[in-house]
Parts: sequence; C-alpha cells; structure tokens
Amino acid sequence: MTIDSHAHLGMDAFDADRDEVITRAEEAGLTGIITIGVTVSDSEKGIGIAGLYDIVYASVGVHPHEVKDLEQDAYERLRILARQKKVVAVGEIGLDFYYEHSPRAVQFRHFADQLDLAVELGLPVIVHDREAHRETLEFLGYRKGRLRGVIHCFSGDLQMAKKCVDMGFVVSIAGPVTYKKSEELQKVAREMPLETFLIETDSPYLSPEPWRGKRNEPAYVIQTARRIAELRGIKAKDVEIATEINARNLFGL
Ligand code: NI
Repeated sequence: MTIDSHAHLGMDAFDADRDEVITRAEEAGLTGIITIGVTVSDSEKGIGIAGLYDIVYASVGVHPHEVKDLEQDAYERLRILARQKKVVAVGEIGLDFYYEHSPRAVQFRHFADQLDLAVELGLPVIVHDREAHRETLEFLGYRKGRLRGVIHCFSGDLQMAKKCVDMGFVVSIAGPVTYKKSEELQKVAREMPLETFLIETDSPYLSPEPWRGKRNEPAYVIQTARRIAELRGIKAKDVEIATEINARNLFGL
C-alpha cells in the first residue's frame, strides 16, 4: 500500500491505455494516485479522470511553463474547479529557471497568486521548483503558518529539505533517487525523518531504474520506495506505509 503523490494521468501519453495503467497501479498495491494539473483545461481533464477511478484524486493549477499563456478568466475557472469533488490540492505551481519557458516576472506573479488562492481555499499546494530554490523558499516563507504543501520532485539538499519541513511542508522523492549519480537526493532520502516526505513518479516522466528513459507510470513508485528503504536500511513496506500516511495527512484523503 502506498500513494503516488504526483502523476500526470491527463497527459496524451496515457490516452491509449489509461485504464490498464490504473489497473496495474492497483495491482502493485497503490491506494491512491494524485493526478496533477498543469493548465486549466488539463486540471479539468484530471478531475474527470478522478471521477472514474476510486484511487485517483486531482489537483488544479497552472505549471510555471504554462503561466505565460494564462487567460483572463483562469482564476475564476480554477476557483470553480478547486471546489469539485476529489480535488485535494492546488498545483502544480512554482518556479522553473532551468527551462524558463515563461518569463521570471510572470512566474513570480502567478506563483504568488496561486499560493494565495490555496490559502483562500484552505488547500495544500504542490510546488514545482527547478533551479529556483532560494526564491521558492522566499515565497513560501512569506506565507509560513498559513499554508501547507509539498515540494514535488525535490532537488534541493538536506539543509533545504529541513527548511521546508520547518515551514510546515514535506518533500517528495521521485525516480531520480534510483539513479547512481543522485547522491544529494539519496542523502535526503536517507536522513529525513519518515514523517517528512512523500514519494511520487511524476509519470509519464522520470522513470526509476530499471525503466529509466521509458514512459513512467504510477505502479513504478514501488521501485522508488524500495530504493529509499535500501538507503535507510529498513523494509520497503515501512517506507510505503509511512508515505501513504503522510500523503493522507497532507491531502486529507
Ligand atoms: Ni509534474
């Protein structure tokens, strides 16, 4: 039993076999998958998928890559979508200075506005941070005590992970923890207390070993749990159970 805290089941990559993908996740022992919105219409699609499957929940939000194209009525639509059944978070939202598909100033504005939307709605946030650690911490720190959430696909160091926890956040560990060169992330996975992290696939991206380079899917999150358990010298089951409880607590499942 465990929960994939971050998958993009709405993406085209799953259009042909979404049913089978979700069945395989159930067979692998998953009890939950959060499907993550990256645009307003993708968020809407995710809610539709969540309506079809017991184990699927949805988040609504606009990814930093996409905020440059945000339409006038986007926030109105997000507010309506966020109140739908099975919506458990606002995300993914954040900052991406690696690709910088949207200008930084636009990313800042919509990260702040969507964080405030989450505060207003009383929902946790799912945060994307790629090469924008300092700025991400500043935006979250400013709202400390009013906001909970997760830094998804965590790519900071141990010190940053501890700062996130101090602000009431958890971090989420994805497939790269299984890659040989991810030493910093392995350190985070080894050292952070069991109650402070989630696991995720970020499907269809970032497959763990031994499927690196292929399409990722929620069932593969078990491989990530296994690797974290190995690093900590504990049983994979215990990582699965702890991260399930952590996800249930954060998202109110
Ligand atoms: Ni994602």
